[in-house]
Amino acid sequence: MTKLNHTGGMPSLCEVFNPHFRVGAAVNPITLNTQSELLKRHFNSLTAENEMKFVSLQPVEGLFRFDDADRMVDFAAANGMGVRGHTLVWHNQTPIWMFENPDGGAVDRDTLLARMQTHIETVVKRYKGIVYAWDVVNEAVSDKSGEQLRPSKWLEIAGEDFIAKAFMYAHEADPNALLFYNDYNESDPEKREKIYTLVKSLKDKGVPIHGVGLQAHWNLKRPSVDEIRQAIERYASLGLKLHITEMDVSMFEFEDRRTDLKEPTEAMLAEQAERYGQFFRLFTEYSEHIDSVTFWGAADDYTWLDHFPVRGRKNWPLLFDAKHEPKPSFGEVVRAAEASREES
Ligand code: GLA
Repeated sequence: MTKLNHTGGMPSLCEVFNPHFRVGAAVNPITLNTQSELLKRHFNSLTAENEMKFVSLQPVEGLFRFDDADRMVDFAAANGMGVRGHTLVWHNQTPIWMFENPDGGAVDRDTLLARMQTHIETVVKRYKGIVYAWDVVNEAVSDKSGEQLRPSKWLEIAGEDFIAKAFMYAHEADPNALLFYNDYNESDPEKREKIYTLVKSLKDKGVPIHGVGLQAHWNLKRPSVDEIRQAIERYASLGLKLHITEMDVSMFEFEDRRTDLKEPTEAMLAEQAERYGQFFRLFTEYSEHIDSVTFWGAADDYTWLDHFPVRGRKNWPLLFDAKHEPKPSFGEVVRAAEASREES
């Protein structure tokens, strides 16, 4: 059994979950500094919030910029953490040159796939042996009822096997990296089935895919614990690994546009703690399938939800507050780990 570090009274998140899965956080060049102590103490995996996306790494054809990504990787290595790579192929944050000829017209399929291969090979080989898992394709499934794949330049030019090709190129570049399909609204029953269908068809074709990434951008009300359980079971039935890749629990439902709150209410904090406790009990219950849980941030001083979907509205979706102190949610998550230790 792992020894728990209770020095200072506060257990370390990644230590308490060490028997089950890694605990990660998304970082950027600023939070790597401002949150470095918190990161070192509680997390054993890092993901670049933006610095490994296509447009950050290759803004201009053939011009690769690795400085920010390298700094994160060095920080991880220096502190004995793993790195989840995010992301190789996505419809967003991809530069327009990728899809165009010098004359401004659309490239043909072969050119697009050759560019994709060059990018994937260059990036994946650079971080070979350091990045333990890659989100190879992000968000290719449609949210629209009745539509399987999201319309995108990738789909339009290369056809639907751009997805399979991306996995093949990544596998060639690093045969040991675990390769994931990653998406949001992953617990919505209709989208869940579309993701399942896509991933199953890849597996059936022998495409090297090893896991499904559940982004887990959740909120106080949705999705229900039952929907999440069903999603976990459905994806796990494919015999693949599951990673929770971008977890946060927003204080607001997506449609809620209120802007009056300067601080979360006690009731909100309590409700969030209850939700986090339920989620982590579920994760430990299914930890045979789940081997990494990453938060989309480390503490409430910085979260992308401060701007989305309501500009300038503060949100408090993480386990630590803006001063890096543990919130009630942290306590419930640690209790979930303790409960699972008592049961085993
Ligand atoms: C998606 C992407 C992430 C990030 C979030 C918003 O979930 O996968 O990389 O951009 O949106 O921050």
